Amino acid sequence: MIKPHGSEELMPKIVNTEEEKVALLDSAKTMKKMTVNSAAAANLVMLGAGYFTPLEGFMGKNDVISVANNMKLEKGLFWPTPVVNLTNQDLDFKEGEEIALIDPNVEGEQIIAIQKVDKIEKLTEEEINNIVEKIYGTKDKSHPGVQTFYEQGDTLISGDVSVINYSYFEKDFGETFRTAMQIRSSIESKGWKNVVAFQTRNPMHRAHEELCRMAGERVNADGILIHMLLGKLKPGDIPADVRDSAIRTMVDHYFPKDYVMITGYGFDMLYAGPREALLHAVFRQNCGCSYLIVGRDHAGVGDFYGAFDAQDIFDSVPKDALLIKIFKADHTAYSKKLNKVVMMRDVEDHTKDDFVILSGTKVREMLSKGEDLPKEFARPEVAEVLMKHYMKE
Ligand code: ADX
Repeated sequence: MIKPHGSEELMPKIVNTEEEKVALLDSAKTMKKMTVNSAAAANLVMLGAGYFTPLEGFMGKNDVISVANNMKLEKGLFWPTPVVNLTNQDLDFKEGEEIALIDPNVEGEQIIAIQKVDKIEKLTEEEINNIVEKIYGTKDKSHPGVQTFYEQGDTLISGDVSVINYSYFEKDFGETFRTAMQIRSSIESKGWKNVVAFQTRNPMHRAHEELCRMAGERVNADGILIHMLLGKLKPGDIPADVRDSAIRTMVDHYFPKDYVMITGYGFDMLYAGPREALLHAVFRQNCGCSYLIVGRDHAGVGDFYGAFDAQDIFDSVPKDALLIKIFKADHTAYSKKLNKVVMMRDVEDHTKDDFVILSGTKVREMLSKGEDLPKEFARPEVAEVLMKHYMKE
C-alpha cells in the first residue's frame, strides 16, 4: 500500500490505551485550561486520527509562514495549509507548560487534548494578511474561510499534542466517521491495491456518482473510497447527516456490492480551493489511497477560484511532494443527446444546451419549494432524502 506522507508509518496523535488516557486526564487536573476554537479542535481530530501524519501537533510561526509562502515546513516537508491553534484570548500559561485543551463543540468542558506549549508567538497584521492571501488567494472577508481565519486571532500556540478523543464525530457519525488507521486496515482486509478517493461535502448527484464510476474504470481501481467531510460548513450547505443518508442511498442502489467504502472525516471545511485540494491529497495518501478525484471547482466557494485551479496547482508542486496521484476530471453533466452522464471533454460536438446543468442555489431553491429535481440531475431515491430534509426546515 502507498506509504503515508513523509513517514514509513502513520503517526496518529490519539492516546494509545485507556490507561494512558486515564493518566493524562488525571494529570490534566492541575493543568491550565484553554478552550480552543472549532478550527483548532478539527485540527486535533485530524492529528488524532492519523490524517495529518507526520505532524506532531500545532505549527509555530516559522512553519506557518513557510507553509503559506512555500508550501513546506521549515524542515522542508511538503505541507499546503497551516495547522494551528490560534487565539485572541488572554493566556494564563507560559512556554514549556502542558495545558489541557477544551473542546468548544461538545457540552461539559470536555478535554479533547493535552498540548505541550512549545512557543507562544504573535503574528503581525501584515503576516496574517500574507498568510490569508497565500492560502485562500484572497483577503475578502465575504469568503467564509477567510472570515474564519481572521476571527481566530493573532496568537499562535505551537507544540506537540496528545489527543484524548475525536470530539463529537464518533457519537454523531458512528457509522461513517473513520480514522486513517481504520481506513488503511479496511483497505488491507479487502485486499484492495488500487483505491480511488472521492472527497465530498455534498449529497452525491448523478455527476458525482458518474465521476466515481469513470475514475474507477479509467484507473482500473479495486474500489472507491467515498470520504465525506463531517465537520462544520458554511450556512446553507447540507448538514452531514442528510448527506450521509443521501450518499448511502445512492451507493445501495447504484453501485455493485463491495466496490465502495462510505466513510467520513472530522474536519471543518476551509473553502481554500487549490490549497485545500492539496491537503485533501495529503490525507487521502495517509488513508492508503492511490488516487484522489479532483474535478470542477474542488473545495471552492462562490467565484473565488477558477474552475480547474485546484487541478493546476498539482502541476506546480515538486514531483516528489506527494505519492498519491490525481484523477483530473472535467466538468461532468448529463447529456440530453447521449442520455447519459459524460465528461464534457469527451463529447466535443456538444454545446452548452445539450447538458442538464443546475447550480447548487437552483437545487436548494427547487427543494425548498417542494419541486422534484430532474431525474437527469439527481437519482430519485437521493432526491427523496433531500426533499424530506428541506420540507422539515
Ligand atoms: S468539494 O468542496 O468537496 O470539492 P463537492 O462535494 O461538490 O465539493 O465535490 C466533490 C468532488 O467532485 C470535487 O472533486 C469536485 O471538483 C467534483 N465535482 C463536483 N461536481 C462536479 C461536476 N459537475 N463536474 C466535475 N467535477 C465535479
